[in-house]
Amino acid sequence: MTIPVADLRNDIRFLFGNEEHSLRDIDPQMTVLNWLRLSARKTGTKEGCGEGDCGACTVVLGEPDGKGSMRYRTVNACIQFMPTLDGKQLLTVEHLKSDGGNLHPVQQAMVDTHGSQCGFCTPGFVMSLYQLWLDGGEDDRGAINDALAGNLCRCTGYGPIIEAARKAGGISAKDPVEQKRRVDISARLNAMVDDAPMLALETPVGRYFAPRSSDALADLLVAHPDATVLAGGTDVGLWVTKMLKRLDPIIYIGDVADLKSVREQGGVLTIGAGVTYSDAHDALGLIAADVGELVRRIGSRQIRNAGTVGGNIANGSPIGDTPPALIALGARIVLRMGNVRREVALEDFFVTYGKQDRARGEFVQSVIVPKPTAGTQFKAYKISKRFDQDITAVLAAFSIRVEDGKVTEFRAAFGGMAGTPMRAKQCEAAVIGQDWDEASLTLAQQALSRDFAPMSDMRASKEYRMLVAQNLLTKLYIETTVPEIATRLVGREAAYV
Ligand SMILES: Cc1cc2nc3c(=O)[nH]c(=O)nc-3n(C[C@H](O)[C@H](O)[C@H](O)COP(=O)(O)OP(=O)(O)OC[C@H]3O[C@@H](n4cnc5c(N)ncnc54)[C@H](O)[C@@H]3O)c2cc1C
Ligand code: FES
Ligand code: FES
Repeated sequence: MTIPVADLRNDIRFLFGNEEHSLRDIDPQMTVLNWLRLSARKTGTKEGCGEGDCGACTVVLGEPDGKGSMRYRTVNACIQFMPTLDGKQLLTVEHLKSDGGNLHPVQQAMVDTHGSQCGFCTPGFVMSLYQLWLDGGEDDRGAINDALAGNLCRCTGYGPIIEAARKAGGISAKDPVEQKRRVDISARLNAMVDDAPMLALETPVGRYFAPRSSDALADLLVAHPDATVLAGGTDVGLWVTKMLKRLDPIIYIGDVADLKSVREQGGVLTIGAGVTYSDAHDALGLIAADVGELVRRIGSRQIRNAGTVGGNIANGSPIGDTPPALIALGARIVLRMGNVRREVALEDFFVTYGKQDRARGEFVQSVIVPKPTAGTQFKAYKISKRFDQDITAVLAAFSIRVEDGKVTEFRAAFGGMAGTPMRAKQCEAAVIGQDWDEASLTLAQQALSRDFAPMSDMRASKEYRMLVAQNLLTKLYIETTVPEIATRLVGREAAYV
């Protein structure tokens, strides 16, 4: 495909604080963190891990909310590529400085509560607190924990920082000055990129395209079938920062408007491949509470603000959190190449470790998730060493229907037990048609060892994986037969709903 030159734009346009920036000839895979520290010389934002884990590099990104105002989200600058800033506002700890030299309320609260010692993590925490403040503030401990789970502090301890979050409060959504500021910023950003053609950087070190529609994306991928599709970059960013890969070309899907919708119709949810975890969370939580809870525990707030459900599927990881849950729910995905679309059951998309049913030039367009029918129970359990910000060792998701004491439907899907997310078909067959009792539970547990031969790695041994998977069947059994028995850690501040 040849895109008319008049339809291309070769500069990134964004607001850095309130300053308009237009950058040309920038390396498309330069990270926001490197640009801040090495080019803009704004060194308040720190580098810790360089892989999205520690939060030292947390910045706030603002983008027009489509309703004439702005919305603000934290992201990890270390794994965001510079061109993804196009049409957005980048805010760093430097922008919290006021003209009179006073500290911002979140900074003052950190001082008042002694929330900083060596200070290395502090700018990152301050930006997470700032995002909470922009959203009106938070008093609830669980919500504060969720907002801060992606920021690690090795010396102060979290108590004072959580206290700072409470003390800082937040700006009122009704504050007229703030409302006007957001309307003005949104209008400026829209004017900067709205009528400008598609961003297409062709630099000596690599190319980067940011189509605005699925049609343009489909054409681009046919023309560049080996391009790297970039969504939230929470995997792809690490290929650059940790594996030192050169990616050329990159096709970014974060500006494709029609991939960013979540629609519910007739009990079926359709999630565009560009929808972030944060934006999918509420809708998935309505499909089944445990899916919402799973999504809440993915990575951190910063990761959920960037990473997409589509990326979690497309990367084919055996330990991605959403695929087992979506498979147990009977989800399907729509793939598109050029003008040809096809729909496949999600479980069939994962062929074997590292191989998915996706041709060169094809992309994941959306995922279709049916809501469990009345009377069907859905449970999902993530086992990891830490509650927050941790990769899964084993994930189990079950959809079960019991009528007159007999199991009439049962779908069991696991992550971390094989080279792909996978259904446990022998386990399912062992209980369908049986009474849902301890005898069939034992049969289901025995069948699991015929379904899977898990591996040992640094997260868990194969013996542990099998045992925990079998124990999760026991948990399912207890929760579906004696629901009054407490099986979750609610009350120990581990699982806020
Ligand atoms: C600190 C940290 C914590 C994490 N925690 C978790 C966790 O708890 N649970 C979990 O499951 N994952 C976790 N991840 C992994 C990651 O967040 C997810 O896999 C995420 O869903 C990837 O989505 P993305 O939008 O960032 O994808 P990207 O990184 O942009 O892309 C991932 C892969 O999918 C391809 N791709 C993306 N979208 C499409 C599309 N529409 N069509 C075709 N190909 C596409 C890309 O080319 C690439 O191969 C974590 C990652 C980090 C860095
Ligand atoms: S430097 Fe650790 S999350 Fe970015
Ligand atoms: S204050 Fe030292 S790491 Fe947090």
